[in-house]
Amino acid sequence: MQKSVHIPVLLQASLDHLKPKTGESYLDLTAGYGGHASNFLDVTKNYTQSVLVDRDQNAVDSLGFLIEKGARMIHSDFLSASEQLVREGRKFDIILADFGVSSPQLDIAERGFSFLRDGDLDMRMNPSQELTANYIVNKYSKKELLKILVEFGEEKRGFSERIVDKIIETRKKNPITSTTQLADLILSVHKGGWQKTHPATRTFQAIRIAVNQELEQIEKMLLLLPKMLNPGGRVGIITFHSLEDKLVKNYFKQDSLKGLESNFLFITKKPVSGAVEDAHNPRSRSAKLRVSIRK
Ligand SMILES: C[S@@+](CC[C@H](N)C(=O)[O-])C[C@H]1O[C@@H](n2cnc3c(N)ncnc32)[C@H](O)[C@@H]1O
Repeated sequence: MQKSVHIPVLLQASLDHLKPKTGESYLDLTAGYGGHASNFLDVTKNYTQSVLVDRDQNAVDSLGFLIEKGARMIHSDFLSASEQLVREGRKFDIILADFGVSSPQLDIAERGFSFLRDGDLDMRMNPSQELTANYIVNKYSKKELLKILVEFGEEKRGFSERIVDKIIETRKKNPITSTTQLADLILSVHKGGWQKTHPATRTFQAIRIAVNQELEQIEKMLLLLPKMLNPGGRVGIITFHSLEDKLVKNYFKQDSLKGLESNFLFITKKPVSGAVEDAHNPRSRSAKLRVSIRK
C-alpha cells in the first residue's frame, strides 16, 4: 500500500475565522487524519470534552495520537454521530466539517475512488457498508444511472446518456469491475479533446456521492447543528463542489431569513476560497469555507 499524506485544506483560514480559545470544546465531524483537529486541539487543550468523528477505519486508526490525549472517537457517519450527540445532550464551542475524500482515500488504488489508479469499483468510505460502486454500475437501471450522473455529477445530459448506454451495452457481456475499465469506457464515448479535467471526473464524483449518500448526510446533519452548539459557538464547513456548497449556503441563508428567530449569524459573508492556497495541494483548488456563529 502506498504512503499518502493528507494536507489539511484552508487550515489557517479555519483557525482565523473559528478563533479557538483555551478550554473550548471541539467537535470534528470529518476528523480524517487529524490535520485540522490537532491544530485546534493544540490551542484549546481541551481534549477530554472534544469529539472526533469519521466513518473510515483507516482514518480512525490514524487518530490514536489525539485519542491518547483524551479526545473521544466516534467511528460512524456524521449524521448518526450527530444524532447520538444530540441524544446525549452534548454541546460544543466549535464544530468543523471538512467534506469529501481524504488524499489517502484517493491515493490508495484498492479503495476505488480514483480513475487514475487501477482498482476495484468500490468507493465506500466505510468498507463495512454493503452498497459499492460496482453494484451501482452493474445493477442500477438506465434511468437510475442517468439521474445519478446528471444530478450528482452535474454532467451534461447528452454525454451522460452516451456514458450510460455504453455502461449498459458493456455490462450485458461482462460486469464492469475496475476503475480504469470504467474510465476508459467514458473516454471512448467522449467527443473532442480535453485538457485539465479528465472526462471521467464528474461520473466518478457522481457515483461516489451515491455510494456514500453524501448529500443526504449533509442535509440532515445541518439541521442538528443548532442543537450541538453552545451560544456563541462557531461552526465551520469546508465544501468541495457546488452541490455541497449549495446545501450549506441555503441552510444558513434560510436560517438568517428568520430574523430574530434565527439560530446563526454569518461570520464569513462570502465563502473563503481555497484557490489561493498552496499549489502543492490540488484538493484546495475547489474548496470553500463558510463560518457561522450560534446566537
Ligand atoms: C477531507 S477529509 C478530512 C480531513 C481532515 N480535516 C484532516 O485535516 O485530516 C474527509 C474525511 O471525512 C470522512 N467523511 C466523509 N463523509 C463522511 C460522513 N458522512 N460521515 C463521517 N465521515 C465522513 C472521510 O472518511 C474522510 O476521512
